[in-house]
Amino acid sequence: MTAMIGKPVNRVDGPLKVSGQATYAYEHWENDVGQPLYGFIVGATIGNGRIARIDTTRAERAAGVQLVMTHLNAPVQGIPTPDPSVPLPYWVAKPELSSPDIHHYGQPVALVVATTFEQARAASNLVDVEYTAEPGHYEFAARHDQAYAPKTLVMGIATDTAVGDFDSAFAGAEVKIDQRFTTPYEFSQPMEPNVCLAVPHRDGEELTAYVSTQIVSAARARIAKTLLMDPQRIDIVAPYIGGGFGSKLAVHAETILALLAARQLKQPVKVAMTRQQIFQLVGMRTTSSQRVRLGAERDGRLVALAHEATMYANPQEEWAEPMAAFLRSLYAAPNRLTRHRLVPLDLQGNEDVRAPGEAPGLLALESAMDELAHALAMDPVELRIGNEPTRDPERDVPFSDRRLVECMREGAHRFGWEGRPARPGSRRDARWLVGYGMAAASRGHPQAPTKARVRIGADGNAVVQSDMTDIGTGTYTILTQVAAECLGLPMDRVRVELGRSEFPTSWGSGGSWGAANSSNAVRRACEALCEKQRTADGRIPAEGLEAEGEIVGASDDPNFTNYSMSSYGAHFAEVGVDIDTCEIRLRRMLGVFAAGRILNHKTARSQLIGGMIWGVGAALHEEAVIDSRSGAFVNRDLAEYLVPVHADIPEIDAIVLDGFDDKANALGVKGIGELSICGAGASIANAVFNATGVRVRDFPITLDKVLPGLPLAEV
Ligand code: MOS
Repeated sequence: MTAMIGKPVNRVDGPLKVSGQATYAYEHWENDVGQPLYGFIVGATIGNGRIARIDTTRAERAAGVQLVMTHLNAPVQGIPTPDPSVPLPYWVAKPELSSPDIHHYGQPVALVVATTFEQARAASNLVDVEYTAEPGHYEFAARHDQAYAPKTLVMGIATDTAVGDFDSAFAGAEVKIDQRFTTPYEFSQPMEPNVCLAVPHRDGEELTAYVSTQIVSAARARIAKTLLMDPQRIDIVAPYIGGGFGSKLAVHAETILALLAARQLKQPVKVAMTRQQIFQLVGMRTTSSQRVRLGAERDGRLVALAHEATMYANPQEEWAEPMAAFLRSLYAAPNRLTRHRLVPLDLQGNEDVRAPGEAPGLLALESAMDELAHALAMDPVELRIGNEPTRDPERDVPFSDRRLVECMREGAHRFGWEGRPARPGSRRDARWLVGYGMAAASRGHPQAPTKARVRIGADGNAVVQSDMTDIGTGTYTILTQVAAECLGLPMDRVRVELGRSEFPTSWGSGGSWGAANSSNAVRRACEALCEKQRTADGRIPAEGLEAEGEIVGASDDPNFTNYSMSSYGAHFAEVGVDIDTCEIRLRRMLGVFAAGRILNHKTARSQLIGGMIWGVGAALHEEAVIDSRSGAFVNRDLAEYLVPVHADIPEIDAIVLDGFDDKANALGVKGIGELSICGAGASIANAVFNATGVRVRDFPITLDKVLPGLPLAEV
């Protein structure tokens, strides 16, 4: 058997992508589906209230228009009902145009379908809507008195935990940090927008949805429940996805509306959200206010730890991000407290965005740890090492495989951490104040039920099939490697087919579970196939051989009860802050990660670097701003919602420690999709403090927040 797993091989779908032959959802054309019609979504221009009157006459008379759908003529749809059998809301119904009530700005009030996209968009301006506006609540900071405790966080994670007696231990601690950190609304905003090409068959009795989705099974379930159809009559096709980052775990208005229109018109209809619509129709990461309290002895030993996160949630689609939950496994301290609270507002439902929980949570906690190190005059790495737990400090179970200390030591060594300016604001390089910062990374390792099938023909070529998706991460490549190694075939004799509802079911790509889950299901399928081949004396019959493989969800796997399983890492960043303007520039960055075995060192490194760049965005750039009069996101485009660009990103490197987590699964693999986002922003925030002596606790750290605290430059 040739070792293929881990090799830094190129993407098997790379040539298709760079030559334009990888077909995305919006791009299927006549040969496949016939000439489609184009739908354009009309969004509400109030944030709360109802439609008093809607007149579609002018729009219906416009050139090329085939249909204007509103709440007056939309079909009856399923209503969202909480489903305890699914841990995330993406599998439940999402009706559109189902009532005149408006719950958030931009909510669809009509879909205009026309022969061309331009006609549909032009006619969308001719839909006349009168609203009865009601006062709405859009300001998070003004509504903290409304905060309530959810029953659980997403995936059933506990809302509150307490160990020991936090209050007395904190009161008696020799050194204390008690700070509040705030993080803004953020969006996933992948390159490919949310789109669906809906194709009806047999008079709309059956539907094919070419859709940009991270989870095929969730798309199918949501469509079936919303359109009140048998799921077997719905085909999902999603072979290529142009990024997701959480925004495509669910399908949204584009898919529901395209399918409703296609069914009614008995013709293919495609709908793509505009970039601006994505800011109003797809869930955002909630803004947050996080209080972190750390109590320590003079020697740096933590005696009391508390992390309390308050965030926005839409009570109709309650979704609570586990912002403090990672702390339950991160540092040792005998007295501990974590808490999550939700503030209801009249905005679209919040959803998963890139490492939900850890990403904003570690910005706060790892900044606070840096504040504690400074208060103790300790090295931040040594402070963390001194609080390394030997067992999971809240669950009292062993770690499956941790290596956080190793990540920190290796990173410190490679980065040259010993050259860190000991005193904040003490190092100058020409006009730049220079600082170093570090932070720990931690991300949970979820496991979900996943199936895969493998078939080998008499010609010795194998085909792997799963409804798993490749959202740009490299799924095709890693599954080809796993199947090739397990079957003892060269990679070019293995073809991986993904993203179709007719294939065995998975939870797709999300929550950093996709690679670990699907690779283990494929491995099992290959083992079952090899067993069949052995039984057949090594011969493959003319009709070929086929086998399925399956892994169970975490709740059915005792290792998830008996061990604390996460992936870990450490970030190191160097920034320069302009002594006059306070312009903040990342100068270099290094991440060292431990996530069990790595399936492909090239795609893994790309993904880890991508995650670190998200961390740069969270620290320095990203912020979606709400108009407090309407609940609209005012900077809803990529010119004003800033993300890091090439000029913002200097030398960045990501290193993975070779490993194998034998408790995680048979391949020893854990997820890396989101690990490197976690803590990345805090390492930059800490570097800004080290450069300037100014601590900004309101993210993103922009120059106007640093400038008032900066000592005047010597002239
Ligand atoms: Mo992720 S935010 O579960 O795609």
